[in-house]
Amino acid sequence: MADSNTDPQSRPGASEALRWLADMGADEMIGDSTVNRYSEAQSAPAGPAAATLSDRAAPLPPNVPPSVRPAVAAAPALLAPAQGAQDAREAAGSAATLDELRDRLEAFEGCALKFTATNTVFCDGHADAEVMFIGEAPGVEEDRQGKPFVGASGQLLDRMLAAIGLSRQGHGPEGAYISNVLFWRPPGNRSPTTAEIAACLPFIQRHIELAQPKVLVYLGGTSAKAMLDTQTGIMRLRGKWSDFSTPGLAHPIPALATFHPAYLLRTPGQKRESWTDFLSIKKKLIEFTK
Ligand code: URA
Repeated sequence: MADSNTDPQSRPGASEALRWLADMGADEMIGDSTVNRYSEAQSAPAGPAAATLSDRAAPLPPNVPPSVRPAVAAAPALLAPAQGAQDAREAAGSAATLDELRDRLEAFEGCALKFTATNTVFCDGHADAEVMFIGEAPGVEEDRQGKPFVGASGQLLDRMLAAIGLSRQGHGPEGAYISNVLFWRPPGNRSPTTAEIAACLPFIQRHIELAQPKVLVYLGGTSAKAMLDTQTGIMRLRGKWSDFSTPGLAHPIPALATFHPAYLLRTPGQKRESWTDFLSIKKKLIEFTK
């Protein structure tokens, strides 16, 4: 007979509650009794400085939903930040096609975010689109569906695209190809760390080299700062064109920074500036057809 404490049927809502906690950013289990981490550290065996997530986590309770359990339990040793970025450069640089890049990303273990995420979020739209949008990181809905910008901010983005004749279903001059600087959702939608961005950046740079859009758009401050390698905020960066160039690109790609749709949902008064930016994107795309 099933133990009434562990039988999931006898605890309706437990899985949902656990998923909710994971979605809110709870990425570590704690026990009922306190643990002295200082004495733990002193008695820890000598070894690599970086702990593993599975080392740090207390045993998982029974009946943890599969979407949470394997991600946490299967985390391998975390790499030192510089090593993560170095491995990313090698893995991304060895991809000759977008399919290969996706495979390399799926196999990559140098970014800790991967182990708390449900899905790797690679792209949406067609890679032959003339314009590529780069957001920040997947949110809860994107993590669930494995696609970028499918939540509330994605719906606003779709309306903004439609207003200048673009859509993710479109190809070439009518298409919008979409990705993010980060391919995994930061727990609780917290801001990504410098190390997490550094471990993902080679993949988005290679993504651009392989997709070869005519125009790039950085959505929001995190994306713009990471792609432009600057500390300048989005208020100063938005509306300004710059060139994205790498040794792997034959020509620089014009890139525009603009507000993130999530910011526009919170601050609708800024939609006027965004509209100016979207008209500027349209104008740039038309210049290429002349
Ligand atoms: N915000 C982003 O920056 N990217 C997404 O994919 C979703 C929300």
